[in-house]
Amino acid sequence: MDAPTVVALCGSMRDESKTRAALEHALDAAAEAGAGTELLDVREYDLPVFDPDAETPPAAEELKRTIREADAVILGSPVYHGSYSAAFRNVHDYCSFDEFEDTTVGLLATAGGGSYASTLDHMRITVRGVHGWVLPHQVGIRNASDKFDEDGEFLDDALEERTRKLGRQAVEYADIEPAVTDAAVDEAAADD
Ligand SMILES: Cc1cc2nc3c(=O)[nH]c(=O)nc-3n(C[C@H](O)[C@H](O)[C@H](O)COP(=O)(O)O)c2cc1C
Repeated sequence: MDAPTVVALCGSMRDESKTRAALEHALDAAAEAGAGTELLDVREYDLPVFDPDAETPPAAEELKRTIREADAVILGSPVYHGSYSAAFRNVHDYCSFDEFEDTTVGLLATAGGGSYASTLDHMRITVRGVHGWVLPHQVGIRNASDKFDEDGEFLDDALEERTRKLGRQAVEYADIEPAVTDAAVDEAAADD
């Protein structure tokens, strides 16, 4: 496989987003592992609330194309009311099977408080719903406002390593798709 493309979607509109800061670290690790990387920042796309009856706006077409063409996508959302943000969900509503089928997906969530599990679970379920291949490894950051310095650098080495691992795994498993399974089946058959 040529150098894979790994994109990260940040589902926070906040200028000082901790989710965005964490995703930058995951992408940095992905780039170090040989990927071409891009951060997709919801603030930069003029995305109306998804309306199935409306024509897809140009910004959504661009976002959909970028996600469709990526080999792996890292999705990041802040924890909002125990789930993901509306900004994240809005992108997700625009992006369905065409964008996620056979795509490797990594998950990351940042919480102001102590609990991020339900957010990651909700993201995992909705991505499975459009047949993305969600990595078992995931990143949850609790008390996020205490975990970064003013430059977005991690203050916690273990969290930094966990986040970088997400980026590395996005590269390592970027080409996971049915062809891989078929090859494994052929190999297993050859051993019979
Ligand atoms: C509308 C809203 C709802 C929130 N709900 C929760 C919550 O249920 N649990 C929690 O731990 N933090 C909650 N928070 C705090 C955010 O998860 C926290 O500030 C997070 O780091 C924001 O991510 P960001 O910096 O990328 O925007 C909420 C924040 C907002 C604005």
